Amino acid sequence: MPEVLKDQQAATLMDGKELAKLVKDDLKVKIERHTKKGKRSPGLAVILAGDDSASAIYVKNKVKSCEAAGIESFFHKFPADVTEKELIECVEKLNKDDKVDGILVQLPLPGKLSADNVLDHLDPAKDADGLHPYNLGLLFCGKKGPTPCTPKGVMKLLEHYGIDPSGKNAVVIGRSNLVGKPAAALLTQKNATVTVCHSKTAKLDEVCKQADILVVAMGKREFVKGSWVKPGATVIDVGIHHLQGEDGGKGKIAGDVCFAEAKDVAAFITPVPGGVGPMTVAMLLANTFENYERKTGAVD
Ligand code: GUN
Repeated sequence: MPEVLKDQQAATLMDGKELAKLVKDDLKVKIERHTKKGKRSPGLAVILAGDDSASAIYVKNKVKSCEAAGIESFFHKFPADVTEKELIECVEKLNKDDKVDGILVQLPLPGKLSADNVLDHLDPAKDADGLHPYNLGLLFCGKKGPTPCTPKGVMKLLEHYGIDPSGKNAVVIGRSNLVGKPAAALLTQKNATVTVCHSKTAKLDEVCKQADILVVAMGKREFVKGSWVKPGATVIDVGIHHLQGEDGGKGKIAGDVCFAEAKDVAAFITPVPGGVGPMTVAMLLANTFENYERKTGAVD
């Protein structure tokens, strides 16, 4: 049984859906201010390769959110047997397209294609995901630039719920360029003491138990148990797993954390769905808008 805080109620849910809506509504107003002055709309190009059904859903959401906020979207779909060369040619064309302020290459790429080889060809000024090595370099130097969307969304959630990382122990599970490494850098910038864990970490449960802020991006369904969570901690669940329903159709969605257990131990927790996922999309739009403003000049 997980250790339950005496007299503590279930954790406060960190509502990413609601916060993402606030961010997107704010962006919509800002974009309108530009277009009303005769400027073009910002543009986001999305590249999707292969037939991963989860990626197709994420991309559909991203395109839909762009349109709602007044960002023009350009969708480029490739079959699973696309080559790196073809993807790189697409990226290079988009680099030269004046209507495009953000380019997103949806990950993972199919088969043995190297995401790094493709991302290296992005114009860093058009990187919507902050995944180009130059932009990751800026992030690690503490300089401004596009920041990977999921960790940027995690920091926004912490800020919104008044959780200051300064002086806290933060544990990040996962060391990808997409989430773990940038999340650790952003938490360090906010003066947290950060431990990065991965598949070779010994006594992961004990390390997690030290965390005031626990960010879980390991990709294993409900792996983190309630008993691993420090009472009163903030738990950010980056995982998303689609479970099949009894009839083989659409089923429930779960995260990397065993929510039913952790919610009775933590003080704050993100639900799955409705936590980090919507924030990733909102931050993608924010990055695209920031690239656009850098290029075209701010209006106010
Ligand atoms: N796949 C899962 N999350 C992301 C993301 O934030 N950006 C990209 N490009 N691919 C992803």
